[in-house]
Amino acid sequence: MKPLFLLRAAALVISPVAANITELPDDLPCGVAFSVRNSTRNLLAALRDPTIDPGALGAADVFGSNAGPGPKPWLRGSNLLVTIPYCYREPYERASLAWRVEEAIKIWENALGGQASKDTGHAVVFKETTDQGRPLYCYDLGASNRFKWNDDIPYETVSVEAVSSPVFIASATIGFLSDPQQPEPWEMFMRVGHFASSVDVAHELGHVLGMAHEHQRLDRDKYVKYNCSNLRDYYRRLHDATAMDPSITPDKLCNDFYTALRYAFTGTQFIRGTSPGAWSRGWPVHSASDAYDYDSIMHYATQGASRIGCAANQLDKCALTKYKNGPGRPWEVMPIPRNTVPSGEDLSWVRNVYPWKE
Ligand SMILES: *[C@@H]1O[C@H](CO)[C@@H](O)[C@H](O)[C@H]1NC(C)=O
Ligand SMILES: *[C@@H]1O[C@H](CO)[C@@H](O)[C@H](O)[C@H]1NC(C)=O
Ligand SMILES: *[C@@H]1O[C@H](CO)[C@@H](O)[C@H](O)[C@H]1NC(C)=O
Repeated sequence: MKPLFLLRAAALVISPVAANITELPDDLPCGVAFSVRNSTRNLLAALRDPTIDPGALGAADVFGSNAGPGPKPWLRGSNLLVTIPYCYREPYERASLAWRVEEAIKIWENALGGQASKDTGHAVVFKETTDQGRPLYCYDLGASNRFKWNDDIPYETVSVEAVSSPVFIASATIGFLSDPQQPEPWEMFMRVGHFASSVDVAHELGHVLGMAHEHQRLDRDKYVKYNCSNLRDYYRRLHDATAMDPSITPDKLCNDFYTALRYAFTGTQFIRGTSPGAWSRGWPVHSASDAYDYDSIMHYATQGASRIGCAANQLDKCALTKYKNGPGRPWEVMPIPRNTVPSGEDLSWVRNVYPWKE
């Protein structure tokens, strides 16, 4: 198994200490958080009722925020489909990524039983931006400014980018993040590393759809045992952090998102109730009352960020395990496998957030 999350963390080393934390580091795994499941269903219940003005509900609220605009579900088009447009930034990125991105889309599609339709119950279409069948790239390839957005493409498009760092796997923003009144380019992205598999990309597509990490739910401690000091980079980060600032405690490094981020600690992706990117805005990952979903493609596996020594017979050396005897019965743990397809709950989530309509 690939040490997926360790690699992600290692990527952050490139700009670690004293990074300007008001800006997202390049390699941050996930953009912004939103509530998991319940509130989304409530929104959809409301949206299905034409007497309710969805605007009045406050999408940010629904997606876990009381603090202004937040991640939202993608919008339904006039054709009643929910099209999630994406562009590859440049031709070489398309050449290197298209196969894996298309495989990842198929992972979702196959799990859902096929493309958007009445039978499959969902309305999602991932669609590359094209012009008469030819790809349109996010960069304006003719511009002298290399980083100019291609004006033939709406800003509300996910930019798909290749990252060549050997230690980076993948990252993505969560949900629809543009303000339709004032959209800006590059607001939504999916970054894919050299060694990312199509399963890794499928996890990121989960974020693009709007999902947060299951193991960051507020109630996760009932279901999983998280031992921060078993993250592989823990001692190194603690050492760096206390060298810079002796007042930093292990507790702060493990549980304070700003501190973890500042010292490029993998722990950012395990903090309870906070998803990377949510830190600057106060959007918690909601606890839904729905059953905790160990099988979610958005759940991290035991292998990954754990330090060397973490093994099936050495689970005390692992960073993330699950309670064998069920919620809140913490006397024995077992490994959490790597999920390679969306779970039943993941699929219901998609059908609830993006139901088929005609
Ligand atoms: C950090 O980022 C903010 C917002 O982009 C900027 O105003 C500020 O000058 C930056 N600070 C440093 C130290 O780079
Ligand atoms: C989640 O939804 C269920 C059923 O609709 C409801 O009973 C429950 O109170 C909700 N939980 C939260 C935390 O809103
Ligand atoms: C967490 O892991 C450390 C290091 O392996 C170990 O010393 C500690 O006892 C563990 N904590 C718990 C609560 O299991």
